[in-house]
Amino acid sequence: MIPPSSLTPHPSPLEVIRAVQWSPDGDAVRIIDQRALPARFEERDLRTLDEVCDAIATLAVRGAPAIGVAGALGLVASLVPHAGTPLVEFARQAGASAARIVGTRPTAVNLGWAVGRTLTALRAAASAGVSDSTALLAAMRTEATSILDDDRERCRRIGAHGLSLLPDGANVLTHCNAGALATAGIGTALAPIYLAAEAGRRVHVWVDETRPLLQGSRLTAWELQRAGIDVTVITDSMAATLMRTGHIDLCLVGADRIAANGDVANKIGTYGIAVAARHHGIPFYVVAPWSTFDTATPSGAQIVVEQRDPAEVVCGFGVATAPAGVRVHNPAFDVTPAALVTAIVSDRGIHYPPFDFEAVRDESASSPTRFPGLEGAAS
Ligand code: MRU
Repeated sequence: MIPPSSLTPHPSPLEVIRAVQWSPDGDAVRIIDQRALPARFEERDLRTLDEVCDAIATLAVRGAPAIGVAGALGLVASLVPHAGTPLVEFARQAGASAARIVGTRPTAVNLGWAVGRTLTALRAAASAGVSDSTALLAAMRTEATSILDDDRERCRRIGAHGLSLLPDGANVLTHCNAGALATAGIGTALAPIYLAAEAGRRVHVWVDETRPLLQGSRLTAWELQRAGIDVTVITDSMAATLMRTGHIDLCLVGADRIAANGDVANKIGTYGIAVAARHHGIPFYVVAPWSTFDTATPSGAQIVVEQRDPAEVVCGFGVATAPAGVRVHNPAFDVTPAALVTAIVSDRGIHYPPFDFEAVRDESASSPTRFPGLEGAAS
C-alpha cells in the first residue's frame, strides 16, 4: 500500500505510474489494483494462477497492453512452484495455465499474443535441447521481461508519433482509459498528451466517464489530474453536444484489437464517438501499439466481443440502478468500422486509410499471430 502522500501531483508522472511490473523478488507480478482507484492506491502481488486470472477477469489489471504484460509475467510467476518438475509435466502445466489465462478475456489480442510468445519461448528452448524445467522457466522469464520492456518502449514511440496531432491549446476527447494504467509505460492514447504537456503545450482533455465501469472518470481523470494536465469529466452522453458546440478539436482513443482492414474493437461507446465525430468533421484517431494489430483477423466481424456480468450495468459499485430481474445487455466492447477512423497512430508511425498494415510489417519484430491451442480458450 502506497502512502496517501504519493497521490498528490508529481513533477514527473510519466516515470511513476507502473501499472504492471515484476515484484522486487521477481517471482510475482506487481499490479496497481485499479478496482480501488481513485479512492485508494493499492499495489498487489500476483503469484498463483488463480490470482493472475482473477485480477485480469475482475479488471484489477486492465487495458489491452497491460493485460498482455500481466498475462506473460503471470504465467511465469504461476510456474515458479513447478520449476524442477520433469520436462513433460512442466510443459503440460505451462500449456494448461496459458490457456486459462488467455481464456479470462477474449477481445484484446494482446493477451493471447503475449502469453503465446512466452509459451513459444519454452517450446523454442525445449527444441534447442534444454530439458531442465528450471532453465525452461528462465527462458520464459526472459521473454516475458522483453514483452514488458517492449511495451514501455512502444508507448514512448507512440507518444512521439502522435505529438504532431496536438497543437498548443488542443481540446481532446478520450474514452475509457488508454493511459499509463492500461500499459506498462505511459499509455497509448494518452502518450501524445503526456509528451505534449512535457513539451510545454497546453492541452485540455474531455474524459468520458465510460459506463458502466467508469474507467474514464475513475482512472483517466485520476492519472491526468495527477500529472497536472487540464481535465474535465463528462458523462458519455455529453460528447456529441460538445462536438456540435465546437469544444472538441480531436478524439484520441485506444484499441483492444485492430483487424486487417482497420476495423477497431475498443471500449463500448467508442463507435458512437466515431459516428458523432464524423458528423461534425472532427478527426477521430485510434492509438495503439503494434501488439494490438491482428492482421490474421480480416475484419471486425470476426472479433469476439466480451459479454460481462449484467450487475455491472444495473448494480454498479453496489448500488441498484434498475429494477431487480430486468433484462440487461452488457457488451464490454464495440467495433468501429475503418471508414470512420481518420488515422491510426502506432509505434511505427501514423497509418492513414486505405489501411495496409502488411506494408509496414516488420518480420523481425513480433506482432500478434495465432497460437494454436490458446486462441480457442478465449471464446
Ligand atoms: O475493459 P477494459 O478496461 O480493459 O477496456 C480497455 C479499453 O477498451 C482500452 O481503450 C484499450 O484496452 C486500450 S488500452 C491502451
